[in-house]
Amino acid sequence: MAKNENKTLQTLPVEAHWREVQRDVGILGESEITRQLLETIEQVAPTDISVLISGESGTGKELVAQAIHRRSHRRMHPLITVNCGAIPEGILESELFGHEKGSFTGAVGPRKGYFELADKGSIFLDEIGELPVTTQVKLLRVLEMRQFMRVGGTAQVQVDIRFIAATNKNLETEVRKGRFREDLFYRLNAVHIHVAALRDRRQDIPILVKKFSNDFCRENHIEFAGFSESAMHAMQEAEWPGNIRELRNVVEKVIVLERGNLVDESSIKKYLHQAAVIDHHLPVPLSRPKEEAERDFLFRVLLEIKSEIAQLRELLTSQPLPRYHLGPWHEEQMVDYFEHGEDQSGESSSDRGSVAEMEKELIRSTLKKYNGNKRRAARSLGLSERTLYRKLEKYGLKDEED
Ligand SMILES: Nc1ncnc2c1ncn2[C@@H]1O[C@H](COP(=O)(O)OP(=O)(O)OP(=O)(O)O)[C@@H](O)[C@H]1O
Ligand SMILES: [Mg+2]
Repeated sequence: MAKNENKTLQTLPVEAHWREVQRDVGILGESEITRQLLETIEQVAPTDISVLISGESGTGKELVAQAIHRRSHRRMHPLITVNCGAIPEGILESELFGHEKGSFTGAVGPRKGYFELADKGSIFLDEIGELPVTTQVKLLRVLEMRQFMRVGGTAQVQVDIRFIAATNKNLETEVRKGRFREDLFYRLNAVHIHVAALRDRRQDIPILVKKFSNDFCRENHIEFAGFSESAMHAMQEAEWPGNIRELRNVVEKVIVLERGNLVDESSIKKYLHQAAVIDHHLPVPLSRPKEEAERDFLFRVLLEIKSEIAQLRELLTSQPLPRYHLGPWHEEQMVDYFEHGEDQSGESSSDRGSVAEMEKELIRSTLKKYNGNKRRAARSLGLSERTLYRKLEKYGLKDEED
């Protein structure tokens, strides 16, 4: 008994400290791996050392970058996030370094780039592996000197910034293949934080499930009976190739489609299987052209969406009214699916159109779903943002963006 009291006295303040850090930065988890991640963040955040964050998609790299900024002395200044894979190559340097008036057609006035906007704060270079080699050279100089010139400018601009970069590629492999500069890699990699895949820290799953279901139900006014122990166990056993992002999606989807009822093992398994079908890492034969592989992928996503619409339709038409209230956003979305999913003859729009039309429609509706957020839309479609931009241009959807 006395021993236990002692233990409580010793561990409580430490536990309370970590709970406070978790609350502050929003990185939840009960595994040793997550504890170590938080410890590393606490160690490096107060310094100005550059940090390279690696990890599979959806593991929380952006959250880690935000945490480093938030726990640093720079937190009162901006954290500027740049998605290096999303900005078209032609305007990348003017976006990063800014430009002077008249430096190119359309440069009607001088403009600050991201580096200047991040002055005194931090810059988060996401998907750094996508940076073209010519820009890598210029970035190295900024890292070494904290100095650069605006596009079309002649004066050096001095900034005080902390660099955080992230990648889901293996940069060492990229260096070996000559696609990423070795000197830049070593500069960025002063501290390397690897964010583990969810399947390697399964003890985090229960608390994440609780957090995501609580948030979702509160935001959407849903009464939810919860997950059975066996359902939770099944979630802990699943592979989660899309990591925490996929876990969140499954939790939200199961709450809606199971109509707020208790989710047991057999019902959760249906969704775990579906999650595996929309696996963005499904192998695509390398011999096939990229465009063809992408089209094939879109088809698969489309099939998934169709099956989900069918399930929703069945729920809404053949069952008694749900006992919970879905927020206005969800109602609008469902109406949208039903009104535009079929024409008057009952023939589905996908039966009517060509592949290109279907793809265009899919892109348009996905963008709408994410309120025009291209990053989230691209992710949901399993495309890189650059490819999405290309497709927006190809289908003349750029003008519809705003
Ligand atoms: N430990 C965590 N606790 C709570 N939520 C988390 C945690 N890790 C990630 N998330 C949530 O999971 C989602 C994905 O995280 P994030 O965008 O940071 O991943 P990422 O590694 O940057 O993914 P990508 O490589 O696809 O850009 C976000 O909604 C984020 O808030
Ligand atoms: Mg990210």
